[in-house]
Amino acid sequence: MSADLHIDGLRLLAKIEQLGAIGALPGGGVSRLAFTKEDGLGRAQVREWMTELGLAVRMDALGNVIGRRAGEADHLPAVMTGSHIDTVATGGKYDGNLGVLAGLEVIETLNDRGITTLRPLEVGFFSNEEGSRFAPDMMGALVYMGDMSLADACASVDNDGVSVGEALASIDQVGDAQIPGPTPHAFVELHIEQGPILDKERLDIGAVTAVQGISWQRFTFYGVSNHAGTCPMSMRHDAGYVAAEVTRKVRQMTRHSPDSVGTVGVINMHPNLVNVVPNRVEMTVDLRHVDEAELVEAEAVLLAFVAATCEAEGVTFRTDRLARFQPHTFSPAVTGLIAEHAAELGLSHRLMSSGAGHDAQIIGRKCPAGMIFVPSVDGISHNIKEHTEPHHLIAGADVLLRTMVSLANQPAGGTQAGDL
Ligand code: GLV
Ligand code: MN
Ligand code: MN
Repeated sequence: MSADLHIDGLRLLAKIEQLGAIGALPGGGVSRLAFTKEDGLGRAQVREWMTELGLAVRMDALGNVIGRRAGEADHLPAVMTGSHIDTVATGGKYDGNLGVLAGLEVIETLNDRGITTLRPLEVGFFSNEEGSRFAPDMMGALVYMGDMSLADACASVDNDGVSVGEALASIDQVGDAQIPGPTPHAFVELHIEQGPILDKERLDIGAVTAVQGISWQRFTFYGVSNHAGTCPMSMRHDAGYVAAEVTRKVRQMTRHSPDSVGTVGVINMHPNLVNVVPNRVEMTVDLRHVDEAELVEAEAVLLAFVAATCEAEGVTFRTDRLARFQPHTFSPAVTGLIAEHAAELGLSHRLMSSGAGHDAQIIGRKCPAGMIFVPSVDGISHNIKEHTEPHHLIAGADVLLRTMVSLANQPAGGTQAGDL
């Protein structure tokens, strides 16, 4: 590939700042929870950029937006990139956004140079990747690929009882593009690592081989409220106590394996008063593991612990499944291509797996997919302090450009890569 094929770094950085200003938080972070007014404003901005680049823009009924650039052989399946522009409520400006904006930068670079690829190119942003307002995460990609029905997605409700369907309509993001969408020839996603590995090892690029499995559950414990001063400890049915024990257990369960992580992210106590024994607690548990069998085992151990603890305390419980994803292995051919282009650019790189969930793992169920990681300073993400150095953002986008061009020039039938 031509040695001087590079994206325009300053243009990419400017777009990241511009999008990051929508829903900006004091201190530098961003809050654009899925289908909020801020998400709607971010969507409008990215759609405008897509249109300015001459892309044919389509949106489906879950608000997934795809911009398409024609190829010489336009009937062939497209090479797609993209990610998400929704954020957690206390997020940074790079998580997801980098992948979408780098995709636009790839298109603009090719437009500027008058380069047409054999296959069409597509850049998308998938709705509600984060899942922090509406479960499950990666909802848009699931619906786009036909792995979740539109009706099920639209029925998901947030903590205020607002459904996805209502929230989508309120920001006018219901389109008519085909669901499921066309399966691409290949999918590549650029993302910040969100963990400490590349930063610690002082490497530029991660070629991602796999994503670990994710299990999200909500537990609700039902006890009995009573007076904090008068009710003897032996007579309590304390839902708050059960939640505390489960929190401790989640941490303890991760100790046997460095690959095991567990998080209690939400605890809502009721009535949440200093002198009243809690009668109800909702809590979430996020368990992840690279090995599906280990994840299944962890879920079983936790459930047994919950049942035993509730029984001893005279508390009842229910569980709701919020999300469940098995570990996913990316296409070795796409991963290899990413590593090859990183090397060609003189960038230091390694193979690695992902701790976070990504749209690519859903799209990659049906077509060859891969991911490019760039370092997160101090491994911090889902935090307003999330940061990636500008030269790494630019390097990642350069690898994306070359990987997409390589994939998009693969003819039908004869291929350069084994599993494509
Ligand atoms: C998505 O950000 C996740 O929770 O992995
Ligand atoms: Mn993300
Ligand atoms: Mn995220």
